[in-house]
Amino acid sequence: MSVARAAAALGRRISAAPEIVIILGSGLARVAAAVAQPIVVDGRDVDGFPATGVRGHRARLVFGRLGGRRVMAIQGRVHLYEGARPGEVVYGVRLGHELGASRLVLTCSAGGIGAACEPGTVMLIRDHLRAGLQRLAPTGARPVYDHSWGTRLREAALREGRRLAQGTYLWTLGPCFETPAEIRNFAHMGADAVGMSTVPEAMTAASLGMHVLGLALIANRAAGLGSASLSHEEVLASARRAAPSMERLVELAAAHCAA
Ligand code: HPA
Repeated sequence: MSVARAAAALGRRISAAPEIVIILGSGLARVAAAVAQPIVVDGRDVDGFPATGVRGHRARLVFGRLGGRRVMAIQGRVHLYEGARPGEVVYGVRLGHELGASRLVLTCSAGGIGAACEPGTVMLIRDHLRAGLQRLAPTGARPVYDHSWGTRLREAALREGRRLAQGTYLWTLGPCFETPAEIRNFAHMGADAVGMSTVPEAMTAASLGMHVLGLALIANRAAGLGSASLSHEEVLASARRAAPSMERLVELAAAHCAA
């Protein structure tokens, strides 16, 4: 089943095509609760939609309105470290694009490296690094992230007293957390945060001509910079605590998607 045929089947279930695809990362699924007039589709009912195995992820598509825009929020992303193929990791982006969406909001959790990236902070992703993973995603000459959209979001957030950090996200394959030596190396490379997702989707969307905005919730200080040990549970708990703030930021991102 092709993405085009899956999109055509889905199109018959929703009343209007989404303008923005929103991908919700680990522990951030409840951000979709803010979507008004929701039509919820189980990922299992969409041909080709990958099943997810990580705790904190449920594969569901939520269509509705957010920030005055029509959105398709995807709960439950799949990761390369789960054994998913690159085509499965980016399936939701391609599906949303096929349905007519021209914008993508990516959310994820990440480990903080930069001084401004304390746990609980949200970092606007301005650019990314792919430590040794270049061959897993297509490259393009133009910037991947829409800086004017990001700047509009930061200004709107600041008007509400919400300060967004900004910086470079470094993508690792996972699933293991990094070593302190790797984090020191990544800091030298210019990384402000480190995580195991987001980049394949961002690259695919950019190659399709979509506008991309990325929000990384800093769940913990990266290895060697904070508490002695890191766990997936700690990451999920931080994500849950910060979910209301992320919810509002995603809504503002939708509201300010166009100048
Ligand atoms: N490293 C990689 N990915 C992550 C981290 C981290 O410290 N925290 C949340 N996702």
